[in-house]
Amino acid sequence: MNLETNYLGFKLAHPLIVGACPLSDTLDGLRRVEAAGASAVVLRSLFEEQITAESMAHHRAMESHADSHGEASSYFVHNEDFKLGPDEYLEHIRNAKSKLTIPVFASLNGDTPGRWIEYAKLIEQAGADALELNMFHVPVDPGESGSFVEKQLIDVVAGIRKAVKLPLAIKLSPFYTAPANLAAQLEKAGANALVVFNRFYEPDVSVEKLEIESHLHLSTSTELALRLRWLAILSGQVKTSLAVTGGVHSAIDALKAVMCGAHAVQLVSVLLGGGLAKLRMILHEMTKWLQDHEYESLRQALGSMNRTRCPNPGALERGNYVHMLQTWQLT
Ligand SMILES: Cc1cc2nc3c(=O)[nH]c(=O)nc-3n(C[C@H](O)[C@H](O)[C@H](O)COP(=O)(O)O)c2cc1C
Repeated sequence: MNLETNYLGFKLAHPLIVGACPLSDTLDGLRRVEAAGASAVVLRSLFEEQITAESMAHHRAMESHADSHGEASSYFVHNEDFKLGPDEYLEHIRNAKSKLTIPVFASLNGDTPGRWIEYAKLIEQAGADALELNMFHVPVDPGESGSFVEKQLIDVVAGIRKAVKLPLAIKLSPFYTAPANLAAQLEKAGANALVVFNRFYEPDVSVEKLEIESHLHLSTSTELALRLRWLAILSGQVKTSLAVTGGVHSAIDALKAVMCGAHAVQLVSVLLGGGLAKLRMILHEMTKWLQDHEYESLRQALGSMNRTRCPNPGALERGNYVHMLQTWQLT
């Protein structure tokens, strides 16, 4: 079975890639990812907070009164929280590229335009095959409009596009008002792929401790449906590659994403929870399913259920919502 796919300009043997997560933190980890059969890997992100923290540390050292702002420093993320500092991150890319044969995609994660361009250039020089951008911003200010938030992202993408030749993937939040319009604008700004969607870890409230608490729960397949709708809507409307991230735990999940238009399928929770061997199991089951259903290649399935090709596009739109509410019955 031919499972080949094109993602971000790379011809991949199959669509299963390892998404940004701790599995890629060390060279040994990366070797295991490659040996497990991943067709590409996204490194865990370099965070804007790391870059800022490092600059602040330099600044404080220069001013030589590093301890005089004890209270203020508690607001900053501490460098010890991160596995790799900015320089180590670049070194990790160089090492990964010298030892792996699969494409290695770096990742930048931030919330303000900040120093993305500078680091995109360094990441390109370090030899990464592509760059995934994850701009996670929480617009808490009532004066900050949706169009402003979108413009910041588009400007960052356009700025990076001018500065580097690297293929660029944008990991999108599901909370934009009009994802199809944003996707079209990102494509115009120079994005080569859209990754659908970033997964958030919503803060919870401890009523006993009166504290905000956060817990990282691995995903389940229930999170896939949101991604399927938007993949199906975007597929055929943008020329960028599409990748799914969030909620892929089985071969059927992966096939659904491909049918809705995903050229690449990012796996994280399923591998963190079930081990890297899960990747080959999913690949094997995908192959078997396609053979059993007389597909000649994965390409034949790609986008076959997107909004322009599925038999009932209304099911992806408001009509489905109205129908579901009106026809629900107590059993
Ligand atoms: C422990 C952990 C670390 C992660 N680190 C990053 C990261 O550095 N950058 C990023 O963009 N996403 C990161 N993610 C998110 C994943 O790449 C992925 O988008 C998310 O887990 C949804 O996919 P899944 O359902 O397959 O887990 C992380 C996820 C986990 C569980």
